Amino acid sequence: MNSSAQQTKIEYGDFQTPLELANCVCQKLKELGVSPDIVIEPTCGVGAFVEASANRFPNAKKIIGIEVNEIYLSNLQKRKTAFTNSERITLQQGNFFGFDWKEMLSNLDGSILVIGNFPWVTNSQQGTIGGANLPEKLNFQHRNGFDAMTGKSNFDISEWMLIQVGEWFKNRNGALAMLCKTSVARKFLHHLHAQKANVFHSAIYSIDAKKYFDASVEACLLVCEFRENSQNYDYDVYESLESKTSQRVGHRNGLTIRDLDTFEKFGALYGNSELKWRSGVKHDCSEVMELKKQDDALVNGAGELVDIEPAYVYPLLKGSDVANNRIKSTNRFVIVPQKTVGEPTNSIKRLAPKTWKYLENHAEYLDNRKSRIYRDNPRFSIFGVGSYTFSPYKIAICGLYKTLDFRLVGELNDKPVVFDDTVYFLSFGTEEEARKVLYTLLSRNVQDFFSSMIFWDEKRPIKTGILNRLNLQTPKTVQALRLFEPKNKKRLSAEER
Ligand SMILES: C[S@@+](CC[C@H](N)C(=O)[O-])C[C@H]1O[C@@H](n2cnc3c(N)ncnc32)[C@H](O)[C@@H]1O
Repeated sequence: MNSSAQQTKIEYGDFQTPLELANCVCQKLKELGVSPDIVIEPTCGVGAFVEASANRFPNAKKIIGIEVNEIYLSNLQKRKTAFTNSERITLQQGNFFGFDWKEMLSNLDGSILVIGNFPWVTNSQQGTIGGANLPEKLNFQHRNGFDAMTGKSNFDISEWMLIQVGEWFKNRNGALAMLCKTSVARKFLHHLHAQKANVFHSAIYSIDAKKYFDASVEACLLVCEFRENSQNYDYDVYESLESKTSQRVGHRNGLTIRDLDTFEKFGALYGNSELKWRSGVKHDCSEVMELKKQDDALVNGAGELVDIEPAYVYPLLKGSDVANNRIKSTNRFVIVPQKTVGEPTNSIKRLAPKTWKYLENHAEYLDNRKSRIYRDNPRFSIFGVGSYTFSPYKIAICGLYKTLDFRLVGELNDKPVVFDDTVYFLSFGTEEEARKVLYTLLSRNVQDFFSSMIFWDEKRPIKTGILNRLNLQTPKTVQALRLFEPKNKKRLSAEER
């Protein structure tokens, strides 16, 4: 494929569904009792779903295919005569973002099935290649569902399209069956819950995206059935289209729960943690703020020797150090110029003149940090800092790894350890307090409880929003918490973890 064809493929998210998979999807829908009067394929491409629907849904009165690419459409036009009752099939060229779906739907009676596979592309990919295949800005901001998107710098075009299609079912029964990224399916189901849409049943069936699309992404068939007066937002997740067993997912207390059965089993552990999980420091300037010890001297990210007072320099552990249990020593350090967020920094000039001079000499980098939060705060500010940063004992975990490995971290070189912002931690005044809490966190039941709320395929699966849901109170309560684990007292061995 030449580079311009490659670019077009990216812009249009063009991954055509093989007929074999489209047939399996329609077969699955039949098994679920889906029997539409009308089938709509809104971005039908070369037509695998048009063909599979024609052959598998003989009772459908109409099958409508819309597609932006004229060549695909004219090839399909020629091919369609071979499909079952092809006179039911209407094909039309159209751009999803400009198409008058409202007008089309107002002329259709009966239950609809919206089926297909939307473009696989994100708005930032479009930005990188200069692609224009995006919702028109004005429409975008005024349409329903955009709320779910605001504030997001990057989103999948397919998520936006799904939200539009969700609107079609506001006053109409029917079903939606879409191949998409699993993360998109999850976000869309969360959106339906937030919108209190008329969902009767929904499910996610994992598919092998490598096999069918040569794409390295977690993908699935998303099925949603909509019925008037129905509001069921729990859904089933299956490992494949053939799988007979599933895991129940649902929305509880503002969280999406990956494994409802386990979550409900350990419901007594749910609460608000009195001990708050915090994230490590954020400075957005590692070249200046992070230092390495080399032959007893400190060197910054630009390779310069740094001769400053020790007052503001703390041992640093990164997320990878915590995850890999490299916590007993470090040759990394970080400058922490504040004790609390927003604390004035000008006293450094007096208390540690060499440190101030170093910061001033590198102000060009620090003053140019992109995020607005730095501009609205004292010069050389950092974030994620508070009295907890300076406690001697911490229990830490890295949010980026796919294991619940909690570490007890003590001081290094008589100074409290500071973490980067991929780490979450609890802080303690004494080792004894920390150990008690660690014991609880490593219990099998607590680990299962946390895991029931964690989507392990996410980039940062572990979040404070999840960790803070364990009813972790003072050390006294921590002891009492053990009562919740009467049968299964086994601790996880390092290997199991
Ligand atoms: C992932 S492919 C899937 C095609 C087809 N639905 C299937 O399952 O085989 C996405 C399709 O969307 C089409 N497409 C991309 N942007 C579109 C738009 N704005 N309006 C309509 N179709 C579009 C592409 O040309 C491509 O055929």
